[in-house]
Amino acid sequence: MNILHVVGARPNFMKAAPVVRALDRADDVRQTLVHTGQHYDFNMSDVFFQELGLPAPDINLEVGSSSHAQQTSQIMARFEAVVLARKPDLVIVYGDVNSTVAAALVCAKLEIPVAHVEAGLRSFDRSMPEEINRILTDDLSELLFTPSEDGNHNLARAGIDAEKVHLVGNVMIDTLIHMLPKALERVPKDIPRRYALVTLHRPSNVDDVDWLRSLVQMLDDISAELPVVFPVHPRTRQRILELGIASGRGSSGFQLLQPAPYLEFLALQSRAQVVITDSGGIQEETTFLGVPCLTIRENTERPITVDIGTNVLVGRDVQKVRQEMDRVLAGKAKCGRIPPLWDGHAADRIAAVLTGWHASRSVEASSSQLPYSLADSR
Ligand code: UD1
Repeated sequence: MNILHVVGARPNFMKAAPVVRALDRADDVRQTLVHTGQHYDFNMSDVFFQELGLPAPDINLEVGSSSHAQQTSQIMARFEAVVLARKPDLVIVYGDVNSTVAAALVCAKLEIPVAHVEAGLRSFDRSMPEEINRILTDDLSELLFTPSEDGNHNLARAGIDAEKVHLVGNVMIDTLIHMLPKALERVPKDIPRRYALVTLHRPSNVDDVDWLRSLVQMLDDISAELPVVFPVHPRTRQRILELGIASGRGSSGFQLLQPAPYLEFLALQSRAQVVITDSGGIQEETTFLGVPCLTIRENTERPITVDIGTNVLVGRDVQKVRQEMDRVLAGKAKCGRIPPLWDGHAADRIAAVLTGWHASRSVEASSSQLPYSLADSR
């Protein structure tokens, strides 16, 4: 089976790594890794390949940053040439970034089957670019791998044939489980004993000047009681610099850092008193680690982290964050459980489904090549 994986942005890399590894163990599978170049900084991309043991990309489309339409269309134009040259049996796409939907759309037009890892997630908020990417990618996919049962319900509601949908668990947690022992050796030395870990990068938080100002002020206030460690996404850094609101911060109570590599960030998460974030994946990782998570969003496409995990949606409400921080500081933060199938074996399940899928297609293909008389008489 000739498989082509498409990755492009930071959250794709930890999802692809276990799937590539699991398919390496399967017989007769040839794999090609395509990096679209959506993320290109060393800290946002290369370091993840090194730490996760992902092979270097076979092909890099080097699209870089631009508007959504430009980025998506450039990925499409460059990726189409790759598909035509490599003629894959299957293309695997991950998550909900622009690279995901761009690759799926190319394949749909060329009639190449697509498998979507992390299918079925819905925030029901179409103002998020990722929601549009999720809806379209799911609709275009032939195989849909969901991390939790809510994904299956969402896909059923969207009219997607249940036969295409496979509940396999969470590949991001496969990577977490695989890497945690190594990560715990990488705890940064100059980190306080107790701290709140912060990440923010969504347009809804960082592109709204007034709201970003009040967020930074709130974090500054929190740092008086609990030190704040904030590895800053390039987009957020740009906004903070534009606003000039970083000056004066950087005291030991409020550390603004470069984006953290995977192992270091995992170590930081696992030792944090609380994580304050707008990321999708971090809601899942904190639920697995049992670390309280305050999500600065009005909705989540990962409701299981709220229903049974440690996640609390605090919306765009500074008061609510302060209330939840009081609970954390009083040792009364929300406790949670680990969702079913978040057990480190999601990628093995994916590999098993894919080998079965390929075998059944090969049988179909060979029977359709039978002489007419034989095929007709079956
Ligand atoms: C993208 C994903 C988002 C994901 C996030 C993780 C989409 C629509 N969004 O958002 O779902 O959670 O990645 O980081 O695909 N930049 C750099 N260096 C880089 C990459 C980006 O400096 O290596 C800067 C550029 O100024 C760029 C901005 O960050 O314009 C935004 O990057 P982009 O990939 O467009 O979106 P993200 O905000 O990273």
